[in-house]
Amino acid sequence: MPSAKRFARIDQLIASLGYGSRRDVEGFIRQGRVQVAGISKFSSDVRIDPALISFDGEPLDHPNGILVLLNKPVGYVCSHNEEEGQTVYELLPERWRKREPKVVTVGRLDKDTSGLLLLTDQHDLVHRLTSPKHHVDKIYEADLDRPLSPEAIDIFKAGTLVLKGETKPCLPAHLEIISERKARITLQEGRYHQVRRMFSAIGNHVVVLQRVQFGHFDLAGVAEGQYKHLSIDSFTTQK
Ligand code: URA
Repeated sequence: MPSAKRFARIDQLIASLGYGSRRDVEGFIRQGRVQVAGISKFSSDVRIDPALISFDGEPLDHPNGILVLLNKPVGYVCSHNEEEGQTVYELLPERWRKREPKVVTVGRLDKDTSGLLLLTDQHDLVHRLTSPKHHVDKIYEADLDRPLSPEAIDIFKAGTLVLKGETKPCLPAHLEIISERKARITLQEGRYHQVRRMFSAIGNHVVVLQRVQFGHFDLAGVAEGQYKHLSIDSFTTQK
């Protein structure tokens, strides 16, 4: 049994999960809305294993962290700023917007791009999954407005393509031509509007873009606008 010192105070813990301020949580404890298995009376500074705590009779909402896979629809922005439009956070439980550490996106998808988006409150994981050093594949399917020539495969593979306004070439990318105007592209980095800009650099234009895979995860079983929980260990145990 881990020492109680390793656990946060119950008021801090429940407040950090978005249930309310610490003062609110003190009130919830007084009202009996917070229960601890095996203990009938406790104060707001007690340190308890989160697995033993419930709120309104329900287990606490992911007290050990969140990692979800969202199938992002077109039209939602990867931002906490509601002035930028409908945000991806509106597709998740409202309580998560009050969690600390914040739930954030693992990289971004443009407003006009749909598909696989990971979100987490494990901020070290964000770096591990987005840094090219860790070689996590991100796979996109793009519909193009002009026919693709097979030379594009070698251009993307060469690792010499320089995007407009940049000096450092893109890392080698794998391009698979699915049909005349449809391609699948695999990247291990995530520069601003990268897929659209790569096709634009070879004189084409992306009209529809969807991310279909991130690492070993795909969209199977997750309808557009829906999300599913992933185990945080599913990435932390991988190189
Ligand atoms: N590349 C883009 O152009 N847009 C995205 O959303 C992701 C990758």
